[in-house]
Amino acid sequence: MKIGVDYYPEQWDKSLWEKDAALMAQTGVKVVRIAEFAWSRLEPRDGVFEFEWLDDVIAVLQRFGMEIVLSIPTCCPPMWLYEAHPEIIRVGSDEKQIQTGIRGHRCVNSPVFFTYAKRIATQLVLRYGNHPAVKAWQIDNELEAYPCCCDECKARFRNWLLDKYDSLEAINEVFGTSVWSGEYSSMTQIQPPSAYPTEWQNPALCLDWYRFCCDSVNGYVRELATVMRREMPKIKITTNTWISGNAPDLYKMFEPLDFVSYDNYPPVQIPEDPEEFYSHAFFLDLMRGIKGSNFWVMEQLSGPTGSWAPMSSTPRPGMIMGYSLQALAHGADTVLHFRWRTARTGAEMFWHGLIDHSNIPGRRFFEFAELCKTASKLSVIDTTELVSDAAILYSPENAHALKIQPQTEGYNYLDQLRYFHAAFARFGANVDVVSPEADLSSYKVVVAPEMFVYKKAAAENLYRYVIGGGTLVLTNRSGVKDNNNNCIMESLPTVFKELVGAEVTEYDPIGAKEQKIKDFAGNEYVCRQWCDILRLTTAKAYAEYSDNYYRCCPAVTMNRYCSGVVYYVGTVCKSDFYESFAGNIMRQTGMPRLKGLPKGVEVTTRTNGLDDYIFFFNNSEENAKITLPKAMFSIIDSAGKDTIDLKPFEMDIVRK
Ligand code: GAL
Repeated sequence: MKIGVDYYPEQWDKSLWEKDAALMAQTGVKVVRIAEFAWSRLEPRDGVFEFEWLDDVIAVLQRFGMEIVLSIPTCCPPMWLYEAHPEIIRVGSDEKQIQTGIRGHRCVNSPVFFTYAKRIATQLVLRYGNHPAVKAWQIDNELEAYPCCCDECKARFRNWLLDKYDSLEAINEVFGTSVWSGEYSSMTQIQPPSAYPTEWQNPALCLDWYRFCCDSVNGYVRELATVMRREMPKIKITTNTWISGNAPDLYKMFEPLDFVSYDNYPPVQIPEDPEEFYSHAFFLDLMRGIKGSNFWVMEQLSGPTGSWAPMSSTPRPGMIMGYSLQALAHGADTVLHFRWRTARTGAEMFWHGLIDHSNIPGRRFFEFAELCKTASKLSVIDTTELVSDAAILYSPENAHALKIQPQTEGYNYLDQLRYFHAAFARFGANVDVVSPEADLSSYKVVVAPEMFVYKKAAAENLYRYVIGGGTLVLTNRSGVKDNNNNCIMESLPTVFKELVGAEVTEYDPIGAKEQKIKDFAGNEYVCRQWCDILRLTTAKAYAEYSDNYYRCCPAVTMNRYCSGVVYYVGTVCKSDFYESFAGNIMRQTGMPRLKGLPKGVEVTTRTNGLDDYIFFFNNSEENAKITLPKAMFSIIDSAGKDTIDLKPFEMDIVRK
């Protein structure tokens, strides 16, 4: 495992570079990301490049043994470029250009912008592509499915629609524009969804707009990577990402890239309500699932966060070390902390790095130094990966469609995924979070929550999986929409009905109201948000509603289909239900279960095929004790042990 930092040399006096590099080396830092936002320093005037300062920085870092991630700084075009070509500035859904001087306000579809982006990328790759210290490249920063409404984007969107549907008549048909006199008689009448509230807008248009925005940003990444590889075919390229409100289709975005990088800012305050999500393990598993392989953390929590929001609490003792190791436990091989120094100027001056404004290394820094020491003992982990029996399917498109139409109060796409994830993880299972189109054949159980919008490849994948003997869990709001985001004229869950062996005769979107279900063993659980009232065809009831007029109607079902089994969860419960449900499925499918893990303790396993390494992470504020089934060797303490005692946020790793 390598530990690194994000460094912005252009923000500091040159006299600090050498001191910083020396301290990094002394601390055990191995990797440094630079130049992420430094376009104005690298190209201060149109076509005038000043790389000498970057040569110096790279030379200094190299002298101190650092590996470098060099960024293509296209997230922040320089002011002269905006002034000369204001058409490259993104336009919001309010039809106004975004204010310059912030960041990320370039339109990724602008040909002028791309010409400049291509040029700076080519220059950088030509100059440093063969540099022995430069080990990887980052394109841009936290790219999103930007809903830019500039003229270029509007024109491209219309062409994109024509290309997809062939004619205006077909567009009218799939958008169902006969509603509210929305029929288009010319392509120019087609506008992206406006700033007007989404719930009033055409869902078919909104979803295609999202798809177009995804294609735009993905096309930009692909083209830039192609330009860079044309010069230097062997370079390793990534981009740093997270699950923003505007998340693109990450599976497609990373296709042309070599590895996934995640910006990992876990929360630092444990919520009082046990139903509130806390652990970031789900997101780490999601990042690993994008390419089905280990990933990097390109930015890791280092201090109080804030700036555009009021500052959050400072990371508790143990978190700087613990959350980096938690990322390792879920497949991160390299973790860079954001950032080496806290900025003194600019909007982010209160998003703290490792070294505070005082310039005096403090508690967090010393914990980081400990982390570097620990990481240096973990090289045996480098060749390992996670192998999982359970998978949860994450679909960016379903996530977005459910944002366009949120269904009922409190209903949230990611929450249902996270409930299932937490339930399997509670028993120490590795869980993959993967695409609905991924190869599912190796999983003992696959959970496919809210398969809302029909996608042929995904539906066929699920049938194939079950026919092959798999155990599948489907939920409420599946099979609701056709691929155009219009409702299907058939009883729910439409295309999945045969698998489920039951149909929805009626549903009750109860929002924040609570009701109850009782499972086959007589256990009662609270449910909320959504109640599908089911009629069984070939399925059996796993749980029934125990109140309201649909008392005794099935709420959760189990069906045998070919050689597989399909569960359908027609409602949304609390964590106790999901835990017992996951426990039962694990027993049925023969998945090993670790029982009685203290609350907050997370267990995952990485393997190299010969040795298994089990990670025990105490993601809680209480001390935790775990009794091992037999004595095992801890690679953290270099000692054999049969019990593990963990302080808050402490990790131990044992060889099985
Ligand atoms: C990330 C971003 C960084 C920095 C950080 C903290 O989202 O990539 O550049 O802004 O947040 O604010």
